[in-house]
Amino acid sequence: MLDGKHIILGITGGIAAYKSAMLARLLIKAGAEVQVVMTPSAKEFITPVTMSALTGKPVVSEFFTANTGEWHSHVDLGLWADAMVIAPATACTIGKMANGVADNMLVTTYLSAKAPVFVAPAMDLDMMAHPSTTANIDKLRSYGNHIIEPASGELASHLTGKGRMQEPEVIVAELEKFFAESQSLKGKKVLVTAGPTYEKIDPVRFIGNYSTGKMGYAIAEEAAARGAEVTLVSGPVAIKAKHPAITVIDVESAKQMLAECQAAFPHADIAVMCAAVADYAPAEPADRKIKREKQEIPTITLVKNPDIAATLGAQKKPGQILIGFALETDNEMTNALEKLRRKNLDMIALNSLRTPGAGFGTDTNVLTLIKADGSESQLPLMSKRDAAARLLDAISPAK
Ligand code: PMT
Repeated sequence: MLDGKHIILGITGGIAAYKSAMLARLLIKAGAEVQVVMTPSAKEFITPVTMSALTGKPVVSEFFTANTGEWHSHVDLGLWADAMVIAPATACTIGKMANGVADNMLVTTYLSAKAPVFVAPAMDLDMMAHPSTTANIDKLRSYGNHIIEPASGELASHLTGKGRMQEPEVIVAELEKFFAESQSLKGKKVLVTAGPTYEKIDPVRFIGNYSTGKMGYAIAEEAAARGAEVTLVSGPVAIKAKHPAITVIDVESAKQMLAECQAAFPHADIAVMCAAVADYAPAEPADRKIKREKQEIPTITLVKNPDIAATLGAQKKPGQILIGFALETDNEMTNALEKLRRKNLDMIALNSLRTPGAGFGTDTNVLTLIKADGSESQLPLMSKRDAAARLLDAISPAK
């Protein structure tokens, strides 16, 4: 998986920098081309000579070569890379990365990198547990960076706790897994719905719900990162899709969402219905603002909206995979199973508003994945992006 890949290995100033030599060797053994970028203080822990001898490339550390004035382009480096790995990543560098403090070659390269970035923190347990470190790591995660969680064990301080940089073998395995996954939906077309629908009452009011689109957009991003061509039919949300392989179709009402899904579904290999579709819409939206000054309180007659997932379920062809979500507040499992069957889904992802950290608006979710064959897997609390990854893992051919 790493054969021919261009990897930037960023090394910062921590004791674990000695492990970077082994990491470079393993990456090269796996067929990768490695360019080391070191912070000035990293050179106190491992020499550039060691790293350039191992990688066969001069180490980049300063913006210029002092005696020749040669400029080292962090932009070119960022574009060259298929992945950037920062190992070890100190609390200082993590803080700079999280806040765009571009005062060295490593951070400027990071800010220019278009490729996926992997961060392997290494520090003392109290530094690791400090709220500023955890907030910075969360920020990096929210930028789409991959955090390789440190292990627990004896630290340089002789204290024991979480903060040991992962072993080079583990880091290489993470990279291999990432590149394997990035191919897993190559050539596939994926349809995703996300966000709420707005059902018009009059020109200024609507019936809607609290969906922010975070879960659906995470699924679209993850599918695109795995090589799929993604059509994202989105209700009104404040977030934007990032991956170039995602085509966003903006809609407002359930009827519009249904029309776009029906157009895309015949070409889709996989469809994930994550939108929180309003079940009812005003029968006759007013064409002018309903005035408060009117004597009587207006009655709004509602009609049932189309069920998009059930409509696609009825049209599903052999080989197509249709996944739904169930958002429940009670009788969670019974309701989810009923929806799985009635809508002819292959899998349903149950999330409950009773579970802290799950459902609307949060950056995390807690999903139970239930397949049509009755098998089920309960996922712990995790970021919506990780939950999206586990959901797509569950339908990949190997699972
Ligand atoms: O957007 P976020 O803020 O990140 O929140 C994420 C989420 C809570 C919206 C998401 O995780 C979620 O649960 N989405 C489904 C919400 C929902 O409408 O659940 P439901 O149980 O009412 O619907 C069951 C399934 O049928 C869903 O796949 C839904 O998309 C689909 N449906 C529902 C009604 C309808 N008229 N048409 C549909 O297709």
